[in-house]
Amino acid sequence: MEIRSATIDDAESIAEIYNHEAVKQSTVFDLRPRTLEEQRQWLKERSGAHSVIVAEEFGEILGFAALSPFRSRPAYSTTVECSVFVRRDRHREGIGRALLSQIIEHARRHGFHCLISRIGDDNIASVKLHEACGFWVVGIEREVGRKFGRWLNVTVMQRLL
Ligand SMILES: CC(C)(COP(=O)(O)OP(=O)(O)OC[C@H]1O[C@@H](n2cnc3c(N)ncnc32)[C@H](O)[C@@H]1OP(=O)(O)O)[C@@H](O)C(=O)NCCC(=O)NCCS
Repeated sequence: MEIRSATIDDAESIAEIYNHEAVKQSTVFDLRPRTLEEQRQWLKERSGAHSVIVAEEFGEILGFAALSPFRSRPAYSTTVECSVFVRRDRHREGIGRALLSQIIEHARRHGFHCLISRIGDDNIASVKLHEACGFWVVGIEREVGRKFGRWLNVTVMQRLL
């Protein structure tokens, strides 16, 4: 497996992984799938310090991780929000840990001081993965989302670099 920077050509594979979560799971708060154009735009908005990496094996994308702007006000510019997704049929193979570790290093290299992850719906796998990579829980936003007829919490996790 290779981890590399994402290119615009990865948009379709990334959308496929993301859209499974959007449509079938409550891990993300989108209610409809992203179009290919939206996914391309999302990728274009993330280059340089805010960036996307993918895990690839034999030409197939197994997962991705991203660094996104945290807040628009300038004093937040040393903080970045991260996210990580792995194809459902390849969970528990170490791909999430490899991606998150590498995106943390990317954030460190680009001089960010603080990483934030916002984890939807008491998602134990993601909370445990983040704990394994040095994040800790800083709070729970209760019932801030609603999907599939249920209220959803968001667990906020943080790591300082
Ligand atoms: C969260 C997610 C990225 C984890 O990816 P993964 O490749 O399955 O995780 P890894 O195999 O690298 O696991 C690394 C560590 O995370 C923890 N972990 C992962 N899945 C877990 C689970 N289901 N239950 C408990 N701990 C888990 C463990 O500590 C694990 O280490 P171990 O295997 O040595 O015990 C994956 O479950 C996923 O894509 N979920 C859907 C999308 C999502 O929720 N993304 C997070 C949004 S921020």
